[in-house]
Amino acid sequence: MTDLAGLSTEEQLKQRAVDSLTAARARTALLTSCVDDHDLTAQHSPLMSPLVWDLAHIGNQEEQWLLRTVGGRPAVRPEIDSVYDAFEHPRAARPTLPLLPPTEARAYAADVRGRVLDIIERTPLHGGPLLDAGFAFGMIAQHEQQHDETMLITHQLRTGPTALTAPPPPAGDTTGLPAEVLVPGGPFTMGTSTEPWALDNERPAHRRIVPAFWIDTVPVTNGDYQRFIEDGGYTEERWWAPEGWAQIREHSIGAPLFWRRDGGQWLRRRFSVLEPIPADEPVLHVSWYEADAYARWAGRRLPTEEEWEKAARHDPVSGRSLRHPWGDGEPTELHANLGQRHLQPAPAGSYPAGASPLGVRQLIGDVWEWTSSDFLPYPGFAAFPYREYSEVFFGGAHKVLRGGSFAVDQVACRGTFRNWDLPVRRQIFSGFRTARTAAPGALTASAAHPGAL
Ligand code: AVJ
Ligand code: FE
Repeated sequence: MTDLAGLSTEEQLKQRAVDSLTAARARTALLTSCVDDHDLTAQHSPLMSPLVWDLAHIGNQEEQWLLRTVGGRPAVRPEIDSVYDAFEHPRAARPTLPLLPPTEARAYAADVRGRVLDIIERTPLHGGPLLDAGFAFGMIAQHEQQHDETMLITHQLRTGPTALTAPPPPAGDTTGLPAEVLVPGGPFTMGTSTEPWALDNERPAHRRIVPAFWIDTVPVTNGDYQRFIEDGGYTEERWWAPEGWAQIREHSIGAPLFWRRDGGQWLRRRFSVLEPIPADEPVLHVSWYEADAYARWAGRRLPTEEEWEKAARHDPVSGRSLRHPWGDGEPTELHANLGQRHLQPAPAGSYPAGASPLGVRQLIGDVWEWTSSDFLPYPGFAAFPYREYSEVFFGGAHKVLRGGSFAVDQVACRGTFRNWDLPVRRQIFSGFRTARTAAPGALTASAAHPGAL
């Protein structure tokens, strides 16, 4: 992918739009061609859509935004809009809809794409917020990649022979890494007004005063989490938020989703393979309630969303907020575990090149990180281009996740990117790190923590 900062000409913007849409479609094709038609139309979990619904929904969103709205072209298949409207039909009900069968769904998405490539060629990428810098094309590429992550979650819930493989992630080494990093108190810039493809909820950039806090250098690992389990973490009500305690009682939850005890050791099912749980890998498939309980047991708390973003983006030397922890450049395979390149998080201590200026590791990629914050609009928020992307989800029901998992593509991931979900959710690729408020004396990172700078 081209460095955004270097994009100036219309041709480069168009190339970026085409590249991003093409990369998303290659991934969609992989996720929907590695299983048979029966698997594509089956519902693997009531939490998820049949894969073939996601496939045609991707095409339908693209038709509505790029073909009809941006391109001003007539509808290809207006009669299927309602079938693929996520608000009209909850996921559990989607198998009973008159869905396009796999062959037709593929042909429909390909037909829309062909017309969209023609529209990109003919449309100047300026003259309004949908067109400027190719925003609508970037939005739709991100939308497809988000559904690709959703489809990967469906693959994880699916049982049966392995359909997906990938090489293991790079090794990690935590030798010499401090357990936590001090983020000095003071103002920083949260959100963005300049990132061309940032979505509405990431805008606008604004100053926030964040008091000094300590944050884990790396995400909480399976080994850490096992100590919580072995210490009776799931049997002691005092660690749990009341709704979390009710959930684990009602569903007899005693470990992360996909874990099972086999004699003396813990195993997990990962994309159809049963394997021992690697102690040094960030814990995955925990709910917000589990993350919150662990943090309380550890004598700590989850970071707020603003703390997470300050740890990830604040450069204490320039005072500026970076696009990514490592700087303004696009991620490479040396920076972060993204894009389904590996089918699991990388061990703690990997990706030294991806460290933030203060020395916090693995903020981008590996696991989505639960924060303590509700999903709320930033001051000056304006819904764009549709209320149903973010605005209808604002409020106390959803918690914010940050940083992106191994299943997130780089087009849909940056230091400002905000994800959200219900606090009970655990089939998502979610983990967390913990934090604590710094004592009043701990004012500067260099004094208290020389290694971190
Ligand atoms: C931002 C991941 C919560 O999948 O529900 C996809 C993204 N919005 N289609 C979701 C989304 C519309 C959204 N999340
Ligand atoms: Fe969608």
